[in-house]
Amino acid sequence: MTHRAIKGKSGNGSDRSDFSQLAQVYDDLRPQTESWWALFDELVRLGDLRGQRVLEVGCGTGTLAAALAERELAKVWAIDREPAMVEQAQARLPGGARARVAECEALPFKDAWFDRAVMRLVVHHLDRPRAFAEVKRVLTPEGRVVIATIDAPTVADTWFNVFFPSALTHDEDRFAPAEVLEEELREAGFARAESTVFVQEERFPREQALAKLRGRFVSSLEVVPDDELAEGIARAERELPDVLVRPLHWRLVVGVTAREGLTK
Ligand SMILES: C[S@@+](CC[C@H](N)C(=O)[O-])C[C@H]1O[C@@H](n2cnc3c(N)ncnc32)[C@H](O)[C@@H]1O
Repeated sequence: MTHRAIKGKSGNGSDRSDFSQLAQVYDDLRPQTESWWALFDELVRLGDLRGQRVLEVGCGTGTLAAALAERELAKVWAIDREPAMVEQAQARLPGGARARVAECEALPFKDAWFDRAVMRLVVHHLDRPRAFAEVKRVLTPEGRVVIATIDAPTVADTWFNVFFPSALTHDEDRFAPAEVLEEELREAGFARAESTVFVQEERFPREQALAKLRGRFVSSLEVVPDDELAEGIARAERELPDVLVRPLHWRLVVGVTAREGLTK
């Protein structure tokens, strides 16, 4: 792991990444691999999602919400602020589960409406104090939120950021360290918050990696100027091996509304 200063900001919602274009190609560039399912299983376990009323916040194309609903693991609602994402999610969700356009900072649900909330790869986009307070508001007194994000000290090690200095600076600004996320959850009214690291191995062919870069597959690449992108891709073409194998460090954070009960 590369050790760099962690800058992770308070999460003031200044990140306004645009997912309208990415929505059409999101699932091709970020498919549901074996690793995706392994993380899914871990979120179901840590979030205690089985048999609950679950809200997925920032659902994107709805893969996680659909996996929960299709396997009848939970009764599912999903929101995302990007209409093009919600359109994809709604098309994918089985009957009974619903996706709608909404901001996490102003959830269109009654107080205490959900048992659980799940947030995968979304907290770096949010005005976190407002968003966490909203998530707390819509959870029952025995509620729980489970968050999956990239572990902040490792953003410099993600296989793509090494090629794009602007993307790295952007990610260092918006991915908050675990202790900040935990503290923000407590400040938002969660009784307890804990986190753990979940390490996976990313493995995909070089051509797939290059297609991801060319498609600006993560919002970090949105801020990269065209000339820096071209230069970074040229470097990636020279340096990437036939099969890319890299560790990916997830940070999984759980917040509970009741005083007792973290079962991690
Ligand atoms: C990186 S994608 C992750 C999508 C999905 N959770 C996944 O894991 O594939 C981030 C998603 O968060 C959504 N998002 C960003 N800010 C949001 C906000 N303030 N309220 C609701 N959704 C938001 C974006 O529109 C986008 O679909």
